[in-house]
Amino acid sequence: MSGPLLVTGAGGLLGGALAALPGAVGLRRAELDITDGGALNAALDQHRPAAVVNAAAFARVDAAEQAPAEAQAVNAAAPAALALACQRRGIRCVHISTDYVLRGLAVPGHLLDERAPLDPVGVYAQTKAEGEAAVLAAGGVVLRVQWLYATQGTSFFARALARLRAGELLRLVPDQVGCPTPAALLAGWIGRVAEGGPTGLFHLATTGEVSPVGWLGAAAAALALPLRWEPLPRAAIGPVPRPARSCLDGGLARATFGLPAVAWDDALRAALRDEAPVERPS
Ligand SMILES: NC(=O)c1ccc[n+]([C@@H]2O[C@H](COP(=O)([O-])OP(=O)(O)OC[C@H]3O[C@@H](n4cnc5c(N)ncnc54)[C@H](OP(=O)(O)O)[C@@H]3O)[C@@H](O)[C@H]2O)c1
Repeated sequence: MSGPLLVTGAGGLLGGALAALPGAVGLRRAELDITDGGALNAALDQHRPAAVVNAAAFARVDAAEQAPAEAQAVNAAAPAALALACQRRGIRCVHISTDYVLRGLAVPGHLLDERAPLDPVGVYAQTKAEGEAAVLAAGGVVLRVQWLYATQGTSFFARALARLRAGELLRLVPDQVGCPTPAALLAGWIGRVAEGGPTGLFHLATTGEVSPVGWLGAAAAALALPLRWEPLPRAAIGPVPRPARSCLDGGLARATFGLPAVAWDDALRAALRDEAPVERPS
């Protein structure tokens, strides 16, 4: 790439992982508010990136119901403006979206590929779907991702992991199925997509599928800790209904961009290994 990789939303889970890639320049919200069109254009002119990854989002699914205008500005209008500004400058624009724009069939083994019909439920999903369409219309790349996590921080998994390590009881949804993908692993794949290749819509995820119970169970097994849990009804996660099952099929992106297939449980064990402190001989 002839310029840096510019990352918006660099203070977030995925944006932080992207900003850590070699050659990346990450801008947090305080440094670039993507809803400020003037600031957006100025950032592109200042940094002259070869590619931009938009990881900024109004990602609080339930809170979006109370702030539809803000969610629309961040998730739809700003990505549209960014993609057009990139198109005018010949910059590759990669926008991150979500499995929540789809509804998975409740059939074990069913994977959602890029041809799955849109069915966004709630303000977050609807504004994300609007943003996708605008970015695609302006010649950008849209990457749908799902169930992102890191072992540290405030994601669902990081908080559950902290409780697991403290020997506390976890409340887990047993009848929800997805494909957990570590943000750091995903960031590397997105970096490859940003380097060049076709534009359009792609799904990116690890392979396989698991419920939150199986996910935390695998983490407990890897750490040799007992898993203590009680069921949490899916409806109790929040007022906006979550898909019972949504597993993205990343096959097209893997074939197009030469990315590896990584099983969710291999990715999990690697993520837990990577965070382990290095043992030093005494
Ligand atoms: N996490 C998941 O499991 C998941 C699943 C599917 C798809 N995704 C998608 O992945 C992308 C990244 O999500 P994430 O989990 O990393 O979310 P996140 O941790 O909430 O990060 C989003 C970042 O965007 C920032 N932001 C909000 N409004 C902004 C604005 N106007 N200008 C600039 N920055 C702004 C936020 O800052 P503040 O914190 O200050 O608001 C936050 O740092 C999103 O497109 C999301 O839809 C995530």
